[in-house]
Amino acid sequence: MNIQVGIISVSDRATEGVYEDAGGPALKDAAVCYGWEVLAEDVVPDEIRDIQRALRMQVNKGCQLILTTGGTGVASRDVTPEAVREMAVRELPGFGEVMRIESMKITPNAILSRNLAVIVDSTLVICLPGKPKGAVECLGFVKGAIPHCIKVLQEVPTSC
Ligand code: MTE
Repeated sequence: MNIQVGIISVSDRATEGVYEDAGGPALKDAAVCYGWEVLAEDVVPDEIRDIQRALRMQVNKGCQLILTTGGTGVASRDVTPEAVREMAVRELPGFGEVMRIESMKITPNAILSRNLAVIVDSTLVICLPGKPKGAVECLGFVKGAIPHCIKVLQEVPTSC
């Protein structure tokens, strides 16, 4: 299934140029590997308004799936879940549950992650850890459910 994807890297330091964003490119490689098409890529600071602006732009651009990386931890600047939840029409708790359970087999720090998935309009938004390795691993744990979820979200409701 061809899936149109947006990627948002959430990182103060990558935005300031302290280091080059690595999470976004790692997710892009994974998406291309899965046969998906990357429509949009943004790097934003750990600010609720900036995250929400990028999400809105990518949703309006037609992204069916948006992957965020970063800002899911416990530091005071980690606000990605708060930003995304404010725009969500509903949350899909299974994604976060599976990502944490599977990641716990790799690192005990996974219990600190607040990874989640929500629906914004009819776009699936999945929030992944900031570490490139963690982001790609977590995407791999849930990718099996993504095509069906997107198919259902794209269905036009029939009127009776
Ligand atoms: N999940 C996987 N699969 N692999 C990882 O290396 N890193 C963890 C966790 N989840 C990790 C992972 C770490 S170290 C943290 S602090 C949390 O995700 C939150 O990540 P973030 O603050 O970079 O968003």
